[in-house]
Amino acid sequence: MVVSRLPFFSVVAFGQLANVVSAANVFAHFMVQNSYSYSQDDWANDIATAQSIGIDGFALNVASPSGYEPDRIENAYAAAEAAGFKLFYSFDMVSVSGAWSSDTIAAQIEKHATSSNTFLWNDTVLVSTYAGQDNGNDFWVAVKSTLSDQGIDISFAPALTSYRDPSLTETMLSTFTRMTFQSPTFFFCRLDDVNETLTVGTDLAYKSAIKESRTAVSPWQFKDISDQNWVEQSDTLWNYRWQQAINDVQPDIVEIVTWNDYAESSAHYIGDINPNVALYDAAAHITGIDHAAWRIVAQYYISYFKTGAAPAITEDQVVFWYRIHPRDTTCSGGTQPRMYDFPADAVFALAMLAEDGTVAVDIGNTSHTECTASGGQLIMGITYFPSEDNQTPAVSLIRNGATVNSTNGQQVITTSCSYYNFNPVVGALSA
Ligand SMILES: *[C@@H]1O[C@H](CO)[C@@H](O)[C@H](O)[C@H]1NC(C)=O
Ligand SMILES: *[C@@H]1O[C@H](CO)[C@@H](O)[C@H](O)[C@H]1NC(C)=O
Ligand SMILES: *[C@@H]1O[C@H](CO)[C@@H](O)[C@H](O)[C@H]1NC(C)=O
Ligand SMILES: *[C@@H]1O[C@H](CO)[C@@H](O)[C@H](O)[C@H]1NC(C)=O
Repeated sequence: MVVSRLPFFSVVAFGQLANVVSAANVFAHFMVQNSYSYSQDDWANDIATAQSIGIDGFALNVASPSGYEPDRIENAYAAAEAAGFKLFYSFDMVSVSGAWSSDTIAAQIEKHATSSNTFLWNDTVLVSTYAGQDNGNDFWVAVKSTLSDQGIDISFAPALTSYRDPSLTETMLSTFTRMTFQSPTFFFCRLDDVNETLTVGTDLAYKSAIKESRTAVSPWQFKDISDQNWVEQSDTLWNYRWQQAINDVQPDIVEIVTWNDYAESSAHYIGDINPNVALYDAAAHITGIDHAAWRIVAQYYISYFKTGAAPAITEDQVVFWYRIHPRDTTCSGGTQPRMYDFPADAVFALAMLAEDGTVAVDIGNTSHTECTASGGQLIMGITYFPSEDNQTPAVSLIRNGATVNSTNGQQVITTSCSYYNFNPVVGALSA
């Protein structure tokens, strides 16, 4: 499949825009709230890991102008400048309600507006949000005009979350002043409590109305924090959502949601858990639940998205994920999440093989699947939990009747639990 981005390439080819961004950019949403314990080296490590899979930059989710976040952003910029990594702001208008004014937002943007590591869209500073619709149009117009008075032009790409429904496209555009680029989509999974796969209706409606577009891609949706306790249908989201972005939406920017939102017990992180970050209650959901192998999938699809062609697979990889408690399990602590019965009790294995092979998944003695996967293609398999309790999945790659390599999942699947946890453990087998 060839991804067509001719309109953009032709603009670049004619050289009309000196500093226009290339058409396919990949950012990861970084929760600056989690950087309290970060030194510049911690930023540099995360940036190096992100760059190694093709991520261009972080969208800095910043919740408050007071406290430590602005200071940590100084370190983030220093690390990004050393690495040639891009940053843009995603002002979090929800986490600390009322924390931001138009003036404090403008002042934060102004600090790094001329850095060569600030991500520019069409020669203007890209500015995003998480929500912000309740602040109203005048609030955002004031941000833009305050900056404009200082010679700083912005492209406003908010995620106005209440306009999620595609039928609200025109309402949003007539309510909020368009600022070059307005991309409302931060809709990375079903958030409507329906047990079906996500569709691209919202992405396409906004792309059609606005032209420039950003699509959020997320691996999993489970959250347990204060009054939020839910899991959405996201069993195979990390595979098909990338395909939607590449084949169906073809946005200008993919935003991975998230890099590090683990400290509020959200399961969608793909970065490594930094042991210095205080986890508080999230420790029960996060400790020992490694998502590093999801980056193998991201690396493949990022390359696909940027080049428009399926990358060659030169090494056999099987990436697999599973929850560690059957969904009906009664745990001794915590509360059963809403939609607990949406995810399948299964191991999901994505075969990414260089050559044809058979991937076998065994869970105990009674659950066994074999899937013949073609080289160079991604094949998703599913293996249901057995009735036997306390089993660890085993994943094997078989060729010509011989086991080439095998591995076990990092955690046992068990009905013994002190906390409801729908955060999946992710593993990989390579050969
Ligand atoms: C880029 O900015 C120029 C000048 O403001 C504007 O006319 C043009 O529509 C913008 N292009 C895009 C792709 O946003
Ligand atoms: C939701 O859908 C998944 C996948 O199709 C299925 O495994 C699960 O049992 C469904 N849950 C409910 C409550 O229907
Ligand atoms: C598989 O079954 C055998 C024979 O019933 C039993 O001894 C063994 O413990 C079982 N293995 C597992 C992993 O349950
Ligand atoms: C087998 O897979 C594991 C897990 O990915 C990997 O660490 C190990 O190097 C692989 N072994 C071989 C021989 O490729």
